[in-house]
Amino acid sequence: MIIGIIGAMDEEVEILLKNIELTKKDKKANMEFNIGELWGKSVVVVRSGIGKVNAAVCTQILIDDYKVNKVINVGVAGGIGKEILPGDVVIGENLVQHDVDTSVFGDKLGQIPRLEAYDFKCDSTLVKLAKEACDNSSEHKSFIGRIVSGDQFIASVEKIKWLNEEFDAIACEMEGASIAQVCYLNSVPFVIIRSISDNANNGAHIDYEKFIPIGVKNSTNILKNMLQAM
Ligand code: ADE
Repeated sequence: MIIGIIGAMDEEVEILLKNIELTKKDKKANMEFNIGELWGKSVVVVRSGIGKVNAAVCTQILIDDYKVNKVINVGVAGGIGKEILPGDVVIGENLVQHDVDTSVFGDKLGQIPRLEAYDFKCDSTLVKLAKEACDNSSEHKSFIGRIVSGDQFIASVEKIKWLNEEFDAIACEMEGASIAQVCYLNSVPFVIIRSISDNANNGAHIDYEKFIPIGVKNSTNILKNMLQAM
């Protein structure tokens, strides 16, 4: 079993790369694919870059060239809803792209036109493992629910209200749903685990900078616990 681990930013994969027993490193599509063993499991760790296109390209390379059997995405996200605070963890139950809009043809917002699926569902076994890992390794609260992705950093109260009402989302970020779509198209099980770095509201960019180190530490601990249990 080979597990593909994706983080969008250097900060999100830095600790993983410090811990990996590296056997090989390849460069493709401006991304470094780090092949080796991490906490006892065969993995390929990669920084995809930010946004849906980078994440999609990265995921397809992991599947085609490295034959990964599972994909785990770790990183940070903006929390939606008053009870989800910076430092908390959200595990995706399913993912939707909030910036897809063909509603003029009668489609629901987020629906990829002419695709059977609306939301892309995380693998239930991986979700369960992630939840157990959260309960074991973090003093922070964890939530399971819908994560929405789009090529936008959300920093407005109106926009989070809309994401909540329209999609019933608990967190927003910029890659998860495109990783999810690629995994869905290739029938590869996946899970998205994100630590909350901000509340996606006015001032989100300030909280974001401040909480990133906590978020990264959080999701690394969870991933470690999860890999050891797999
Ligand atoms: N990642 C972390 N916080 C975010 C936000 N507010 N919007 C989009 N992606 C994020």
